[in-house]
Amino acid sequence: MKRIVINGPNGYVASHFILELLERNYEVIALIRRNGECTPEERMNTVLTEISGGRYRPSEKLRIYAYSLVEENFSIPPKQLKEIFSVETDYFHFAASLKYDAKSKEEIFVTNISGVENSIRVFSRHAVPGSRFFMVSTAYSCGRSNELFKEVFYENNEDIAAFRNYYEQSKRFAENIIAKHISKDHLPGHVIRLSQVVGDSRTGVTKTCYGIFDFARRVYNLSHRYPDRTIRVRIDPDATQNLIAINTVVDYLMCMTETAGLPTIVNMVSKKTVQNGHIIESLNRLLPIRLVPDNTLEPAAMNVYERIMSIGMSFTGAYSQTNILFDTTNLDALFTVSLPDNGPDETAVFRMLQYFIESLSKNYTPVR
Ligand SMILES: NC(=O)c1ccc[n+]([C@@H]2O[C@H](COP(=O)([O-])OP(=O)(O)OC[C@H]3O[C@@H](n4cnc5c(N)ncnc54)[C@H](OP(=O)(O)O)[C@@H]3O)[C@@H](O)[C@H]2O)c1
Repeated sequence: MKRIVINGPNGYVASHFILELLERNYEVIALIRRNGECTPEERMNTVLTEISGGRYRPSEKLRIYAYSLVEENFSIPPKQLKEIFSVETDYFHFAASLKYDAKSKEEIFVTNISGVENSIRVFSRHAVPGSRFFMVSTAYSCGRSNELFKEVFYENNEDIAAFRNYYEQSKRFAENIIAKHISKDHLPGHVIRLSQVVGDSRTGVTKTCYGIFDFARRVYNLSHRYPDRTIRVRIDPDATQNLIAINTVVDYLMCMTETAGLPTIVNMVSKKTVQNGHIIESLNRLLPIRLVPDNTLEPAAMNVYERIMSIGMSFTGAYSQTNILFDTTNLDALFTVSLPDNGPDETAVFRMLQYFIESLSKNYTPVR
């Protein structure tokens, strides 16, 4: 059985993957940065306990090391580094800044571009033959293009107007670093492009506040401060979100670790999309608010509540008019068993929103 090395292991996607790996008896090495007062072990174990609903018990199959993403050899002592890569390894680069705003550009680029470059350097120096490098990217590295997004590398585009934000652009740049090392140094590299990762499609359990849940959280706050109002939001109800359930992502990642001869790029996306109109209707059912999607709503025509909502949508708003088409030829070839019905359906999305809102309610302190 291969060893799995993961950076950014305490993040939403990686931590779910790790739980499954441990469940299946894989040996996992988690590289986690020092951040805050807790030790790396405490941070990792807290997340695993939280996402497993308290079932996780520290396992000797999981080793946790502190590292520094952009430092020479990750600032890991040479002996430890040698040991980490001493056997065939699948190395997963999950670490990323998921910020998007212009003022965080430097942090986004250093983490998402220099971080990948350095990871490749460390991997190439130390990994034994037979090891593989996986960079976790985003399906939205497609930027604002309206064409079918294929499972190929696309050229860098320096013009930020071609993307919705710096996060997307940074991922495009990082993918091309992988491309360069594959062609120049024969890096055994793979790119996994995720669409928006949501909760568990079987149970509704949702432990992320990204994407549509960030939107749901803002609607929740507004509806509690100013209940029973009708609020127009600049959203196209017919446009769609590509949502992929965390359990589906974990199944796919497990399948990839267990498969030889993988394609270089996989668009790990849903075949089934969910309309914005459904998400809005779900929130209208779950919260004391009536949201009305209005694709033509201009800032000048907004009332004070609509303006608060609009400001809160500075990130999600960029994804409220999209109908992006993703090619899944490589995904289809790999995962014939579970496709084509791989997306959470409307009922599952409703249950995720319900779970998420109930979790918010339990912790809710009214804002005065
Ligand atoms: N979630 C999605 O819907 C989605 C969609 C498409 C692609 N992706 C990609 O999937 C991957 C995982 O996403 P996620 O949602 O699980 O992210 P997440 O929960 O925000 O986790 C991000 C991870 O990266 C680490 N990290 C951030 N900055 C770092 C730095 N400077 N040095 C070292 N580690 C750093 C974080 O560590 P700290 O805890 O110390 O900050 C955390 O472990 C990312 O590459 C993301 O771009 C996610």
